[in-house]
Amino acid sequence: MASVTVINHPLVQHKLTIMRDRHTSTAGFRQLLREIATLLCYEVTRDLEMTTTTIETPLAEMKAPTLAGKKLVFASVLRAGNGLLEGMLDLVPAARVAHVGLYRDPKTLQAVEYYFKAPDDLDERLTIVVDPMLATANSAIAAVDRLQERGAKDIRFVCLLAAPEGIDKFHGTHPDVPIFTASVDKYLNDKGYIVPGLGDAGDRMYGTK
Ligand code: PRP
Ligand code: URA
Repeated sequence: MASVTVINHPLVQHKLTIMRDRHTSTAGFRQLLREIATLLCYEVTRDLEMTTTTIETPLAEMKAPTLAGKKLVFASVLRAGNGLLEGMLDLVPAARVAHVGLYRDPKTLQAVEYYFKAPDDLDERLTIVVDPMLATANSAIAAVDRLQERGAKDIRFVCLLAAPEGIDKFHGTHPDVPIFTASVDKYLNDKGYIVPGLGDAGDRMYGTK
Protein backbone atom coordinates (compact mmCIF):
# COMPACT_ATOMS: atom_id res chain seq x y z
CA MET A 1 0.00 0.00 0.00
CA ALA A 2 2.25 2.81 1.28
CA SER A 3 4.60 3.49 -1.62
CA VAL A 4 7.49 5.91 -2.03
CA THR A 5 9.06 6.38 -5.45
CA VAL A 6 12.40 8.17 -5.55
CA ILE A 7 13.04 9.66 -8.97
CA ASN A 8 16.74 9.16 -9.51
CA HIS A 9 16.88 10.41 -13.08
CA PRO A 10 20.28 12.10 -13.67
CA LEU A 11 18.70 15.36 -14.86
CA VAL A 12 16.52 15.54 -11.74
CA GLN A 13 19.48 14.90 -9.44
CA HIS A 14 21.73 17.39 -11.26
CA LYS A 15 19.13 20.16 -11.14
CA LEU A 16 18.32 19.39 -7.51
CA THR A 17 21.97 19.82 -6.53
CA ILE A 18 21.98 23.32 -8.05
CA MET A 19 18.74 24.15 -6.23
CA ARG A 20 20.16 23.04 -2.89
CA ASP A 21 23.22 25.31 -3.29
CA ARG A 22 22.70 28.39 -1.11
CA HIS A 23 24.36 30.55 -3.79
CA THR A 24 21.73 29.78 -6.46
CA SER A 25 19.69 32.89 -7.31
CA THR A 26 15.93 33.27 -6.87
CA ALA A 27 15.46 33.24 -10.65
CA GLY A 28 17.62 30.14 -11.00
CA PHE A 29 15.80 28.35 -8.18
CA ARG A 30 12.39 29.07 -9.72
CA GLN A 31 13.45 28.01 -13.20
CA LEU A 32 14.99 24.76 -11.95
CA LEU A 33 11.90 23.90 -9.90
CA ARG A 34 9.77 24.33 -12.99
CA GLU A 35 12.12 22.13 -15.03
CA ILE A 36 12.29 19.39 -12.39
CA ALA A 37 8.50 19.49 -12.12
CA THR A 38 8.14 18.39 -15.74
CA LEU A 39 10.39 15.39 -15.05
CA LEU A 40 8.50 14.47 -11.86
CA CYS A 41 5.24 14.87 -13.77
CA TYR A 42 6.46 12.40 -16.37
CA GLU A 43 7.01 9.79 -13.62
CA VAL A 44 3.82 10.39 -11.62
CA THR A 45 1.69 10.06 -14.78
CA ARG A 46 3.56 7.05 -16.17
CA ASP A 47 0.69 4.58 -15.56
CA LEU A 48 -2.27 6.75 -16.57
CA GLU A 49 -5.08 4.79 -18.17
CA MET A 50 -5.19 4.87 -21.97
CA THR A 51 -7.85 4.32 -24.58
CA THR A 52 -7.87 4.70 -28.37
CA THR A 53 -9.41 7.20 -30.72
CA THR A 54 -9.82 6.98 -34.46
CA ILE A 55 -7.98 9.68 -36.40
CA GLU A 56 -6.86 10.28 -39.96
CA THR A 57 -3.19 10.87 -40.61
CA PRO A 58 -2.33 12.36 -44.02
CA LEU A 59 -1.86 8.75 -45.18
CA ALA A 60 -4.38 6.53 -43.41
CA GLU A 61 -7.04 6.11 -40.79
CA MET A 62 -5.75 4.64 -37.54
CA LYS A 63 -6.77 3.88 -33.99
CA ALA A 64 -4.35 5.95 -31.93
CA PRO A 65 -3.67 5.96 -28.18
CA THR A 66 -5.08 8.78 -26.07
CA LEU A 67 -5.58 9.41 -22.35
CA ALA A 68 -8.75 7.89 -20.93
CA GLY A 69 -11.12 9.44 -18.41
CA LYS A 70 -11.49 12.93 -17.08
CA LYS A 71 -8.71 15.50 -17.03
CA LEU A 72 -6.54 15.16 -13.95
CA VAL A 73 -6.29 17.73 -11.18
CA PHE A 74 -3.09 19.27 -9.85
CA ALA A 75 -3.59 20.47 -6.28
CA SER A 76 -0.97 23.06 -5.38
CA VAL A 77 -0.16 23.62 -1.71
CA LEU A 78 0.49 27.38 -1.56
CA ARG A 79 2.83 29.07 -1.84
CA ALA A 80 5.70 26.84 -2.81
CA GLY A 81 3.51 24.26 -4.56
CA ASN A 82 3.02 26.79 -7.35
CA GLY A 83 6.64 26.31 -8.38
CA LEU A 84 5.95 22.65 -9.13
CA LEU A 85 2.51 23.41 -10.54
CA GLU A 86 3.91 25.55 -13.36
CA GLY A 87 6.15 22.76 -14.64
CA MET A 88 3.37 20.20 -14.36
CA LEU A 89 1.07 22.45 -16.40
CA ASP A 90 3.79 22.82 -19.05
CA LEU A 91 3.40 19.07 -19.61
CA VAL A 92 -0.36 18.69 -18.99
CA PRO A 93 -1.81 22.08 -19.98
CA ALA A 94 -5.44 20.89 -19.90
CA ALA A 95 -5.29 19.72 -16.27
CA ARG A 96 -7.66 21.26 -13.75
CA VAL A 97 -6.11 23.04 -10.76
CA ALA A 98 -6.96 23.13 -7.06
CA HIS A 99 -5.29 25.58 -4.66
CA VAL A 100 -4.83 24.72 -1.00
CA GLY A 101 -3.53 27.69 0.97
CA LEU A 102 -1.61 26.50 4.04
CA TYR A 103 1.20 27.92 6.09
CA ARG A 104 3.21 26.26 8.81
CA ASP A 105 2.97 27.98 12.18
CA PRO A 106 6.67 28.48 13.01
CA LYS A 107 6.16 27.64 16.72
CA THR A 108 3.75 24.71 16.64
CA LEU A 109 4.64 23.52 13.10
CA GLN A 110 0.92 22.90 12.60
CA ALA A 111 -0.58 23.69 9.20
CA VAL A 112 -2.99 26.64 9.14
CA GLU A 113 -5.43 26.87 6.23
CA TYR A 114 -6.15 30.28 4.67
CA TYR A 115 -7.54 29.38 1.24
CA PHE A 116 -9.18 26.47 -0.56
CA LYS A 117 -10.59 26.25 -4.07
CA ALA A 118 -11.00 23.06 -6.08
CA PRO A 119 -13.02 21.68 -9.01
CA ASP A 120 -16.42 20.26 -7.94
CA ASP A 121 -16.02 16.76 -9.31
CA LEU A 122 -12.84 15.66 -7.51
CA ASP A 123 -14.39 12.23 -6.94
CA GLU A 124 -14.18 11.55 -10.69
CA ARG A 125 -10.58 12.65 -11.20
CA LEU A 126 -7.04 11.66 -10.29
CA THR A 127 -5.70 14.37 -7.96
CA ILE A 128 -1.95 15.00 -7.88
CA VAL A 129 -0.96 17.09 -4.85
CA VAL A 130 2.21 19.14 -5.38
CA ASP A 131 4.39 20.72 -2.70
CA PRO A 132 8.21 20.81 -2.86
CA MET A 133 8.74 19.93 0.82
CA LEU A 134 7.46 17.04 2.97
CA ALA A 135 8.96 17.88 6.36
CA THR A 136 6.78 17.12 9.42
CA ALA A 137 4.04 16.20 6.90
CA ASN A 138 1.52 18.37 8.73
CA SER A 139 0.87 20.42 5.57
CA ALA A 140 0.64 17.38 3.29
CA ILE A 141 -1.75 15.60 5.67
CA ALA A 142 -3.93 18.71 6.02
CA ALA A 143 -4.03 19.15 2.22
CA VAL A 144 -4.98 15.52 1.58
CA ASP A 145 -7.57 15.55 4.42
CA ARG A 146 -9.20 18.62 2.87
CA LEU A 147 -9.21 17.20 -0.66
CA GLN A 148 -10.73 13.95 0.62
CA GLU A 149 -13.41 15.92 2.49
CA ARG A 150 -14.24 17.46 -0.89
CA GLY A 151 -14.55 14.03 -2.49
CA ALA A 152 -11.09 13.18 -3.87
CA LYS A 153 -10.53 9.42 -3.79
CA ASP A 154 -7.57 8.80 -6.05
CA ILE A 155 -4.66 10.94 -4.79
CA ARG A 156 -0.88 11.00 -5.37
CA PHE A 157 1.61 13.29 -3.64
CA VAL A 158 4.63 14.79 -5.42
CA CYS A 159 7.45 16.63 -3.68
CA LEU A 160 11.06 17.50 -4.27
CA LEU A 161 12.44 16.57 -0.86
CA ALA A 162 11.02 14.35 1.87
CA ALA A 163 12.21 13.77 5.43
CA PRO A 164 12.03 10.15 6.67
CA GLU A 165 9.99 11.37 9.67
CA GLY A 166 7.50 13.07 7.32
CA ILE A 167 7.12 9.98 5.13
CA ASP A 168 6.35 7.81 8.19
CA LYS A 169 3.82 10.26 9.55
CA PHE A 170 2.16 10.85 6.19
CA HIS A 171 1.79 7.15 5.49
CA GLY A 172 0.61 6.56 9.07
CA THR A 173 -2.39 8.72 8.18
CA HIS A 174 -2.70 8.21 4.42
CA PRO A 175 -1.17 4.81 3.54
CA ASP A 176 -3.13 4.77 0.29
CA VAL A 177 -1.51 7.94 -1.10
CA PRO A 178 1.72 7.17 -2.96
CA ILE A 179 4.61 9.61 -2.60
CA PHE A 180 6.86 10.61 -5.52
CA THR A 181 10.00 12.51 -4.55
CA ALA A 182 13.41 13.44 -5.95
CA SER A 183 15.13 12.68 -2.63
CA VAL A 184 14.63 11.28 0.84
CA ASP A 185 16.95 13.44 2.95
CA LYS A 186 18.61 12.63 6.30
CA TYR A 187 16.47 14.09 9.07
CA LEU A 188 14.39 17.00 10.39
CA ASN A 189 16.14 19.50 12.64
CA ASP A 190 14.60 20.87 15.86
CA LYS A 191 12.92 23.68 13.87
CA GLY A 192 11.28 21.22 11.49
CA TYR A 193 13.64 21.93 8.58
CA ILE A 194 14.81 19.15 6.29
CA VAL A 195 18.58 18.46 6.53
CA PRO A 196 20.55 18.82 4.31
CA GLY A 197 17.49 20.12 2.44
CA LEU A 198 17.45 23.39 0.55
CA GLY A 199 16.14 25.84 3.16
CA ASP A 200 12.71 27.44 2.99
CA ALA A 201 11.33 26.60 -0.45
CA GLY A 202 8.81 29.47 -0.55
CA ASP A 203 11.37 32.07 0.50
CA ARG A 204 13.95 30.82 -1.99
CA MET A 205 11.37 30.77 -4.78
CA TYR A 206 10.01 34.23 -4.17
CA GLY A 207 13.01 35.98 -2.58
CA THR A 208 11.13 36.81 0.62
CA LYS A 209 14.08 36.39 2.97
C1 PRP B 1 6.54 24.84 3.37
C2 PRP B 1 6.41 23.81 2.27
C3 PRP B 1 5.33 22.91 2.78
C4 PRP B 1 5.57 22.91 4.27
C5 PRP B 1 6.24 21.62 4.64
O1 PRP B 1 5.52 25.76 3.30
O2 PRP B 1 6.10 24.39 1.03
O3 PRP B 1 4.02 23.34 2.48
O4 PRP B 1 6.45 24.01 4.55
O5 PRP B 1 6.39 21.52 5.99
P1 PRP B 1 5.62 20.44 6.87
O6 PRP B 1 5.76 19.14 6.18
O7 PRP B 1 6.37 20.49 8.19
O8 PRP B 1 4.20 20.87 7.01
P2 PRP B 1 5.38 26.98 4.31
O9 PRP B 1 4.44 26.63 5.41
O10 PRP B 1 6.74 27.49 4.70
O11 PRP B 1 4.59 28.06 3.45
P3 PRP B 1 4.98 28.80 2.09
O12 PRP B 1 4.96 27.78 1.00
O13 PRP B 1 3.89 29.79 1.95
O14 PRP B 1 6.33 29.44 2.25
N1 URA C 1 9.45 23.86 4.65
C1 URA C 1 10.48 24.28 3.87
O1 URA C 1 10.29 25.13 2.99
N2 URA C 1 11.70 23.74 4.08
C2 URA C 1 11.94 22.81 5.02
O2 URA C 1 13.07 22.33 5.15
C3 URA C 1 10.85 22.40 5.83
C4 URA C 1 9.63 22.93 5.61
